[in-house]
Amino acid sequence: MQVLHSLEQLRAWRQQVNGSLALVPTMGNLHEGHLKLVDLAQQQADHVIVSIFVNPLQFAANEDLDRYPRSFAADCQALAARGAAAVFAPTVADVYPRGLSQQSFIEVPGISTILCGASRPGHFRGVATIVAKLFNMVQPDSAVFGEKDFQQLQVIRLMSTDLSLPIRIIGMPTERADDGLALSSRNGYLTPVERQQAPILFALLQQIAGQLQAGCAIEPLLTEAEQQLQQAGFRLDYLTVRRRSDLDKPQSADRELIILVAAYLGNTRLIDNLAVNR
Ligand code: PAF
Repeated sequence: MQVLHSLEQLRAWRQQVNGSLALVPTMGNLHEGHLKLVDLAQQQADHVIVSIFVNPLQFAANEDLDRYPRSFAADCQALAARGAAAVFAPTVADVYPRGLSQQSFIEVPGISTILCGASRPGHFRGVATIVAKLFNMVQPDSAVFGEKDFQQLQVIRLMSTDLSLPIRIIGMPTERADDGLALSSRNGYLTPVERQQAPILFALLQQIAGQLQAGCAIEPLLTEAEQQLQQAGFRLDYLTVRRRSDLDKPQSADRELIILVAAYLGNTRLIDNLAVNR
């Protein structure tokens, strides 16, 4: 497996790749969920490259950029074992040569300012910008993203459509621990007690999905679930049911829905979602 630390090294490597290439963008600290993205990418292309870059542009000043977990050596070992052809781990200076304050941005309107975008202003602008830059740098045929970050996936799909990017965007179902908790690098912030409470989030999504399928009205069951979350020690950011295609509020005729939640357990912000058809 090639480890590429600069844009120059990446471009030299890219020129000699024969066949199709899939990209798995990550911020490192890889867990089984990331490695499943690599497995799916292997099925989609002849070669897989994984980027590891903790993108400062998508963190607000009060967020966890400095303490975001980094485990580069272990990540490379796991990726080599999984058969990745290359890892691209550029420096901040390589990615943002004119500095963060001078950087041109990609902004996907509408969807970027609701839900997680409302709580984390500028976050999706940072995500769309880095993903567009990674696409330009790596020039992949396809790219794989986890559905745990469902809003992020939709932002990237819309950005790719809007900019006519010739890259197939592939979503991968969320990888979960045995107790249902969605795998996330930020789960490592949870205390042992919080880790035991955390699966309640997914259990509630399943409860709501069942009730929606049984024909219950959305608002009363969200109110009940919000109370349950608060009683279980969560501080709610949002719990909502949206139309899956554009995350807009569902009309009565909409059948393909998604339940989305973001909530704090202690200082850790957890997100999850569950698709449901009614
Ligand atoms: O989901 C992530 O890890 C990041 O948001 C991404 C897509 C790698 C962009 O920095």
